[in-house]
Amino acid sequence: MMKTKTKTCTLFCLVSFYFVLNALHVLSASKSNAVSYILSCGSASNEADPDGRKWGPDTQYLVSQANSETKGAQYQDPSLPSTIPYMSARIIKSELTYSFKVPGKTRHWIRLHFYPTNYETYLSNNAYFSVVADGVTLLKNFNSSITALALTQSHILREYSLYPSGEVLNITFTPSPDHKDSYAFVNGIEVISMPDLFKRAIMVGFGEESVNTKSSVLQTMYRLNVGGQFISATKDSGLTRQWYDDSSYIYGNLGMIPDIEANRKILYPKDLTGYVAPVDVYRTARALGMDSAVNANSNISWTFQVDSNFTYMVRLHFCELSYTKVNQRVFNIFINNQLAEQGADILIWTGAINVPVYRDYAIYVLGNDNVTITMNPDKSMTPEFYDTLLNGLEIFKLNDTLGNLAGPNPEISKEMEEYDRNWLRIVADAAEREEKKKKEKLIAGAAGGAGAVGLLAVCIVVYTRKKRVLGSECGATSGWLPLYGSWSNSNGKSTTSGKSCSSSTLSSLAQGLCRHFSLAEMKSGTRNFEESQVIGVGGFGKVYKGIVDGGTKVAVKRANPSSEQGLHEFRTEIEMLSKLRHRHLVSLIGFCEENDEMILVYDYMGNGTLREHLYKSNNPQLSWKQRLEICIGAARGLYYLHTGAKYTIIHRDVKTTNILVDDNWVAKVSDFGLSKTGPNLNQTHVSTVVKGSFGYLDPEYFRRQQLTDKSDVYSFGVVLFEVLCARPALNPTLPKEQVSLADWALHCQRKGILQDIIDPQLKGKVNPECLKKFAETAEKCLSDQGKDRPSMGDVLWNLEFALQLHENPNGASLIADERSSRTTGAINSGTNGSHGGESSIDDMSDGLTTSAVFSQLVNPQGR
Ligand SMILES: *[C@@H]1O[C@H](CO)[C@@H](O)[C@H](O)[C@H]1NC(C)=O
Ligand SMILES: *[C@@H]1O[C@H](CO)[C@@H](O)[C@H](O)[C@H]1NC(C)=O
Ligand SMILES: *[C@@H]1O[C@H](CO)[C@@H](O)[C@H](O)[C@H]1NC(C)=O
Ligand SMILES: *[C@@H]1O[C@H](CO)[C@@H](O)[C@H](O)[C@H]1NC(C)=O
Ligand SMILES: *[C@@H]1O[C@H](CO)[C@@H](O)[C@H](O)[C@H]1NC(C)=O
Ligand SMILES: *[C@@H]1O[C@H](CO)[C@@H](O)[C@H](O)[C@H]1NC(C)=O
Repeated sequence: MMKTKTKTCTLFCLVSFYFVLNALHVLSASKSNAVSYILSCGSASNEADPDGRKWGPDTQYLVSQANSETKGAQYQDPSLPSTIPYMSARIIKSELTYSFKVPGKTRHWIRLHFYPTNYETYLSNNAYFSVVADGVTLLKNFNSSITALALTQSHILREYSLYPSGEVLNITFTPSPDHKDSYAFVNGIEVISMPDLFKRAIMVGFGEESVNTKSSVLQTMYRLNVGGQFISATKDSGLTRQWYDDSSYIYGNLGMIPDIEANRKILYPKDLTGYVAPVDVYRTARALGMDSAVNANSNISWTFQVDSNFTYMVRLHFCELSYTKVNQRVFNIFINNQLAEQGADILIWTGAINVPVYRDYAIYVLGNDNVTITMNPDKSMTPEFYDTLLNGLEIFKLNDTLGNLAGPNPEISKEMEEYDRNWLRIVADAAEREEKKKKEKLIAGAAGGAGAVGLLAVCIVVYTRKKRVLGSECGATSGWLPLYGSWSNSNGKSTTSGKSCSSSTLSSLAQGLCRHFSLAEMKSGTRNFEESQVIGVGGFGKVYKGIVDGGTKVAVKRANPSSEQGLHEFRTEIEMLSKLRHRHLVSLIGFCEENDEMILVYDYMGNGTLREHLYKSNNPQLSWKQRLEICIGAARGLYYLHTGAKYTIIHRDVKTTNILVDDNWVAKVSDFGLSKTGPNLNQTHVSTVVKGSFGYLDPEYFRRQQLTDKSDVYSFGVVLFEVLCARPALNPTLPKEQVSLADWALHCQRKGILQDIIDPQLKGKVNPECLKKFAETAEKCLSDQGKDRPSMGDVLWNLEFALQLHENPNGASLIADERSSRTTGAINSGTNGSHGGESSIDDMSDGLTTSAVFSQLVNPQGR
């Protein structure tokens, strides 16, 4: 299944029927009667999705309507890309066939769209069915709920490609007989004529043997624009495919992305057209690295999960973009450790630079469940450079000899399953609790907004965090919070030592993931909560440095008895935090709940906050590369929050003191524990009381009290400028126009004088192309309107690109303008001011010592 990154992609596309017909016509006259059925199942009329693609009703294609009903989904998951076709479904109670007229001897896409959720009395867990198209089994005993859960996606898209055997294509849905109450359903069906893109492929490891993919039914497993960005169906060359970014499939060494201008002309040869892959696929690539000597002994690998016991076709797309001569770049290609191609030299295949070519390989996957593609330089050819290149990649599953393509349902851990169940309960609980509180306290909305009634789950977040925003993290001192790796260590070491931690209300998942500590352990680990151990103070209480298990360093967050954070919120935090795990997010080790104490235990982050490595401290200055890497790590963490978990999570308080750095300089996003958005928010944004830190606040959020993932993107833009300029987000000692870093940096960037305000330590040490990319990225993040800001995925991609530019030693001349930095005048006082500025003022950007006016906005009845 192609992994859908819901936030970076739009599922739909605006490809006019006319265009497809036209396109196909060019390929072959016999296809002039090409068809394109795009159906929103269960809907009664033609409707366009947000991209303008028209979806029609499905009724007229049903052989009989007797066995089915149409139903609407009751809950709209916020991560669904569109209501059409997902919010309506055809519910199929016994075998049902769709029948499509198709031109003979023409290959067709079949795309099936599923949104597993409850459809009135039809519960998502009972959807269990098979799908057969033209005699080939596409899905068997398909459990869409568990599949979506395993993919952490709200919806599923399956893409197949086949030659119908006649002029009628039947697609039959059958509920599986071996489960009581089972039913089948489908939200969207596409049947679209396509050119034949498949021929024979050499079997890797079987000498000259090959498989005829032309006669096979194929299922698209992965389709990647290597070294590039997501390409939506509208940007594909008329075939409405989607191409995803490859970075999450790289195993180990990330290689490097060559710096190629965006409009490089791609020269398709006669026998290859844009239908094979669009220009954007060939314009970007991933190579092994810059340094031939290092490359000589390195590999670059991509790994993909697949179903075992099937044959897969791996299509690799190449286009040489840098070299013009044969034997400059020669490499080997391995698939599952078997040599697939020795001495690959793209220029031998194409004869020229900028000319695309692709190679197909087939591999039988037996006994394991992944396909790994590895490349390394072919030293035996003594090429001029030791390097590799890959521009695009597709993996298709081929039907087996029994005419089957269906694999088993994915297995998910018990924890994952329980997580799903609990998450719904937690949100419902939280909402209920909040409702009660609201009645009691009548929390008025700040700036008149307060938030709509249906958005309780988020309101509780606001309420519980409000205190922290206002009174918290004074001086936001040293690092605390955890490291994924040690989390499992400490978890594994001992199960429980506290005897009477009464947390029967915690889900067993949280209890399983999270360790119980006894109060005695906490006391001995922190020298009885000695003041000297304090490393931070928040609204919740104090944070102590501590030791557990005779040596593991931890950060211990102890609730202040007078804290407003109640037991319920404490538990909610444990529930949430214990399940969110990612290399670039801090996670929870355990907790202690004893004698009215509420204590959370996190791993200790040895290098503290990002901010203390930028300014206002005695720490040595970070190099530009370190800063970039920390930004990339933090962006990955946020990207995960936005897209990686089942529900979109908006951090709401992104700032340099919430980005922590561990002993190995790995950046981790912290303080996201209660930022989750929940179900029943059937909008793409959530209305809420304005919160967040002054200086980082999304102006749109401020104006309209609408929170979206783009609010985090805005705050992250401020972080990027903070990293570049090494000054606080707010510095009221500066002249008025310079107080806000966001405003000032944007002003300078637009005037082309940004180099005058960057950290003097960086001058002459940053590649100007890299600086340009970085600043442009930050600038876009600060766009006034959310819709104009990039997604976190785009930000991440751009930062990675900036890093490549920086590391490119052939890059253009460095910025060496000491000259401009020390002249007097308004422009430079920005830099001078922030470095000579007085400490207490720097904390303004935490929203603490801010003006009374602002405090009242955040917390109208606060004091
Ligand atoms: C489908 O998977 C879900 C887990 O998400 C499970 O609860 C349900 O029982 C499964 N349904 C069937 C029919 O196996
Ligand atoms: C398609 O299904 C219809 C109804 O079940 C059947 O009459 C017809 O023969 C089928 N056609 C093919 C090509 O399978
Ligand atoms: C794959 O085939 C092997 C050997 O025939 C068999 O033992 C194994 O169970 C099969 N795996 C799956 C997932 O069907
Ligand atoms: C590179 O990949 C090949 C093929 O998988 C393997 O034999 C070799 O050990 C790898 N080398 C390194 C340095 O990882
Ligand atoms: C591929 O799968 C095999 C067997 O399941 C496993 O041992 C191996 O570690 C996997 N490789 C990668 C890179 O995940
Ligand atoms: C797929 O099915 C076709 C016939 O339906 C068969 O000729 C072909 O060999 C099958 N593919 C594989 C890889 O077994």
